[in-house]
Amino acid sequence: MANGEILAGFMAPHPPHLVYGENPPQNEPRSEGGWEQLRWGYEKVRTSIEELKPDVLMVHSPHWITQLGHHVLGVPRLSGKSVDPVFPNLFRYTFDVRVDVELAEACSENANQMGLLSKVMRNPKFRVDYGTITTLHLARPQWDIPIVGFSANNSPYYLTTEEGLDEMDKLGKATRQAVEATGRKVVLLASTSMSHLHYREEPELPEDMHHESPYNHGAYQWDMRMIELIRQGRMKEVFNLLPQFIEETFAEVKAGSFTWMFAAMDYPELAGELHGFGNVIGTGNAVIEWNMVKASLSRIAASGGTNAPAYASMDRDVPDVGGQDAGLAADDWSSGGPRVYNSSPSPVNAR
Ligand SMILES: [Fe+2]
Repeated sequence: MANGEILAGFMAPHPPHLVYGENPPQNEPRSEGGWEQLRWGYEKVRTSIEELKPDVLMVHSPHWITQLGHHVLGVPRLSGKSVDPVFPNLFRYTFDVRVDVELAEACSENANQMGLLSKVMRNPKFRVDYGTITTLHLARPQWDIPIVGFSANNSPYYLTTEEGLDEMDKLGKATRQAVEATGRKVVLLASTSMSHLHYREEPELPEDMHHESPYNHGAYQWDMRMIELIRQGRMKEVFNLLPQFIEETFAEVKAGSFTWMFAAMDYPELAGELHGFGNVIGTGNAVIEWNMVKASLSRIAASGGTNAPAYASMDRDVPDVGGQDAGLAADDWSSGGPRVYNSSPSPVNAR
């Protein structure tokens, strides 16, 4: 079987606040709404997926962290309760998901052949991370399409950013080859925020939008700069700027999902359609669609891609910025009796 296709890719951020604001029956906490611009943006994602009718949804999440190698969910059906360890007050979600194990195994096998370390996750009691669950719920709340889920290996945090993203580039190429070989028609979901500097105290009413704003002017300007380039389809510039964007805004794309997705799509110079933007606890979040079908780019070339960014050739050694986050001054949202929700975030695990 051959002729698999990547139908579309989405930047699909995963703040649990968006699920909390929607009040789906699977999530225990109840809210008064909030973060509507992002949630309305996701409505367009849902419409596109309904029209594209993919066989599989593939998602790469920064919050399934694996220290060694790139892991892939490989159990036919996984169910349980996913809880955000930082926001258990917002996200306690009962999930039940089917996995395309054949495609997962092909991705892992290809990744190993490309020199990465990869393993298929076989634990039937595995609790799927909230990043994966949140993105999948927001994209397809019916849970009727099988998935493939990738972990985020910590390589960008232990190596240079460029070396780590180069691994994600390989993982994307391995994914594309697996899609081609298995004949699947897939939608890719890059589960990630953009700028990722964030407030560290929560208002009494989390959905009180009076408190939502960019963390700072610089982060907002960076988000807008990158989105504007994306809207114009200047993706080579986006990827050339990515290490600097990461360094200056602690951007969550450092964890690799965006690079994985675009490598799988062979880095098309294709304008992304912005469906929504919003700040969540100060972080920048954009819902963006690259529809390969509309652009007549969906057929995957059997040969290797040629449009990869030259991360490795960039003569820059971007330091790990994880420590910056831990050193942020706590912003005082004290009017409502703030609750400290993350006093010592790890560089990867910060929302
Ligand atoms: Fe996150």
